[in-house]
Amino acid sequence: MTSPVRIAVVGLGYWGPNLIRNINEHPGAEAVMACDLRTDALESIGRRYPAVETTTSFADVLADPRVEAVVIATPVSRHHAMAAAALDAGKHVFVEKPLAASAEESIDLIERAAAGGRVLMPGHTFLYSPPVMMVKQMIESGELGDIYFISTSRVNLGLHQSDVSVAWDLGPHDFSILRYWLDESPSHASAMARGCVIPSIPDVAFINLEFPSGAVAHVELSWLAPSKLRRTTVVGSRKMVVYDDTSSEPVRVFDSGAVLPNPETFGEYKLTYRTGDIVSPRMEVAEPLYREIEDFCDAIRTGSTPKSSAELGLEVVRMIEAVDQSLEQAGARVGIESGAPAVA
Ligand SMILES: NC(=O)c1ccc[n+]([C@@H]2O[C@H](COP(=O)([O-])OP(=O)(O)OC[C@H]3O[C@@H](n4cnc5c(N)ncnc54)[C@H](O)[C@@H]3O)[C@@H](O)[C@H]2O)c1
Repeated sequence: MTSPVRIAVVGLGYWGPNLIRNINEHPGAEAVMACDLRTDALESIGRRYPAVETTTSFADVLADPRVEAVVIATPVSRHHAMAAAALDAGKHVFVEKPLAASAEESIDLIERAAAGGRVLMPGHTFLYSPPVMMVKQMIESGELGDIYFISTSRVNLGLHQSDVSVAWDLGPHDFSILRYWLDESPSHASAMARGCVIPSIPDVAFINLEFPSGAVAHVELSWLAPSKLRRTTVVGSRKMVVYDDTSSEPVRVFDSGAVLPNPETFGEYKLTYRTGDIVSPRMEVAEPLYREIEDFCDAIRTGSTPKSSAELGLEVVRMIEAVDQSLEQAGARVGIESGAPAVA
């Protein structure tokens, strides 16, 4: 039995309390400190978890030798500075998605983690969600055939962010899922967006991605929509899947497709359509955040690479940067770099 990883959580706004709850529930982790600039947030955590020490000072967190790992759930603009300081103080670091506000900052964090022999993990929670894992297995086993295209809608009313666009806020979810499912990074992106409520902050974006395998994806993101949609369609040469994260049947597999038989005479093409069974597989119930914390602690204790790896986090940030570049160039098709940085 290894001892629980002693963790400090920094940033107790909307998301941080979910992280503390899961750390508290997991036998492999122990929340020892909670840090926020807001004393009301600290008081609320202190009431719920009396054993967790609270502080407004990030420097106190870094100086405390009990703290082995820091979980950062502050706004994106703070990720790099806080994660870099924590790595330099010898802590393992989990940073909420996206890893940092640029590829350059992400590479800097990866280099610091490698230099200090510390774990750096971005919080791409969906990689630990049972339906996402099930679709991954279907793709990997060949059940869906070659993946032709993926189309996804992640829209609802709110929460408008003050410091980032909808592509930086919601995009990391779909980009990390696509990267995980297809096991490759897109080579090109093009995008269209609009800031409807606050003109300088895009709150709706339509993004196209092209992958080296030939797969294409369309990602629709918005904080302005009458109802919440979390719907992804995966179309393969053998079967199709609809993954709906708001449904009681989150994965539905359609044994459907179109076949182009060899033409009998020159110039005669007749498609045949196949509409077979629709299956909704039984889904394991598990909280993704719990699994994510487990993966982080395992990486610290055993040296394993987390599924939500820092390299995957960097590739997600590169995708968002490509979206921004495309928007700056009136929707132009922009190339995306891939691959891990060379670290010593
Ligand atoms: N994985 C997910 O599904 C998911 C969901 C929501 C948010 N997030 C991520 O979590 C992060 C936080 O998002 P949020 O919606 O909770 O933001 P938020 O604004 O609600 O909370 C951020 C908190 O950080 C605190 N903070 C800011 N600077 C600080 C500092 N220097 N020291 C200590 N505390 C500081 C703020 O006081 C605030 O309480 C973002 O990276 C976001 O992308 C992830």
